[in-house]
This record gives sequence, structure tokens and C-alpha cells, in this order.
Amino acid sequence: MSVAALVPAAGSGTRLGKGPKAFVTVGGKTLLARAVEALRGHVDEVVVATPDGSDAPRGARVIRGGGTRQETVERLLRATNADFVLIHDAARPFLPSRVVHDVLAGARVQGAATVALPVADTLVRGADNAWGELVSRAGLWAVQTPQAFRRTLILEAHEAARREDFEATDDASLVARLDRPVRLVEGDARLFKVTTPSDLALAEALAVAWDA
Ligand code: CTP
Ligand code: MG
Repeated sequence: MSVAALVPAAGSGTRLGKGPKAFVTVGGKTLLARAVEALRGHVDEVVVATPDGSDAPRGARVIRGGGTRQETVERLLRATNADFVLIHDAARPFLPSRVVHDVLAGARVQGAATVALPVADTLVRGADNAWGELVSRAGLWAVQTPQAFRRTLILEAHEAARREDFEATDDASLVARLDRPVRLVEGDARLFKVTTPSDLALAEALAVAWDA
């Protein structure tokens, strides 16, 4: 059973404000290089999507991304024939091996699996900085990547979403929407997504321990 790692890295990094985010460095390495390095040994091939289809990191093939994350992922899915795909955002540079194993095992059993973390904070719905309705966190998970799928299943989910104009920020949502099971696999706090400048400070600090 062949496995391809697919890495969406074609975003513009608007919230971070330092140019295309995948090429921002922490601890002297780009976010993309860190993600690819963590994936390479676990899969048969790595395909990344960058804004202009160039700058492949070592050990990966590169294609051009799309205008949205979802379009980028659909392009990546069409760039491989592997039986299973593991989709991982370049914006999550610290990927433990244990997580890769667990999410792939989940996909082999159920066809679709994602890493997620049980929510630890108190949750409230708010508008204009005003406290609104309290939301119980019981049973709530924050969804991360990597996510792993049988390739034919996730391709079917993407095609359905495109036909029906449904847009999501991840890929497991598109499978769940077809009423197909998605396995939740316990994630890791180090998998946080580098999104804003304060995340970058956290990433710089974590890189020291990660690389030691
Ligand atoms: N992504 C992509 N193609 C796009 C948009 C996003 O491949 N057209 C990728 C990003 O490179 C990132 C992941 O999807 O690895 C998650 O996206 P996000 O954190 O939103 O990154 P950006 O879109 O780059 O950031 P922003 O939304 O702040 O512009
Ligand atoms: Mg974005």
C-alpha cells in the first residue's frame, strides 16, 4: 500500500506578514523544510505545492498551488497515484513521528483520520469583544493536521465539495460531509499552526528544543 505525503505550502501568509509563510525560517530552517523533513522517512513520496510551483525542498516534488487551500489540495491529490495520502500543512513545522504513525494507522482502518486535540480552554461565543453565550467544551476537539485518507475517498470528497461550492479549512471536513467516518487521533500541542507573529516567537523557542 503506497503512501504519498502532500504538503500545501502555497499560502501567502497574510496574517503573519512576512511573505509566503512556508518560506519563513525558524531556527534557521524554513517551515516547509521542517515539515518535509519530518515526513520523508515515513512515506513513498512527498509532493509539495508552492505559490509558483518552484523551490522544491530536498526530497520532495513540487507543483503550483491554487487560489485557496482547498484548490491547492485538490491539485496535490491529482499529482499522485498513491493508495493513501497524508496531508500536512507546511505551517505546522513540528511534526512528531508518533503522530504520523497513528494517523496513518487510523486511515488504514477507517479510510479517513485526523489529528485533533481535546479543547482545554473555556469557550465563549463573543461579538465586538463582548462576552456572549458560554459553549461547553465537553466533547470538543481542535482539528490539526496531518490528516490521512484513502486517496480515492478524499478525491471524491473534494470533487463533491467543488460541485456544491462548499469550502472548508481542512480536508477531513469534506469527508465527514459525505457521512463517512473520520477517526480522531490524539494530536500534540507542538503541532500548532504558525499563523500570527506571536506564533512565530513560540516556534523560534520550540525550534531550540526540537533541534537539540
Ligand atoms: N495554503 C495553500 N494554498 C493556499 C492557501 C493556503 O497551500 N491558496 C496552505 C498554507 O501554505 C498553509 C496551509 O494551507 O500551509 C494553512 O493555511 P494558512 O495557515 O491559512 O496559511 P496562509 O493562507 O499562508 O496564511 P493567511 O491565511 O494568513 O494568508
Ligand atoms: Mg489562509
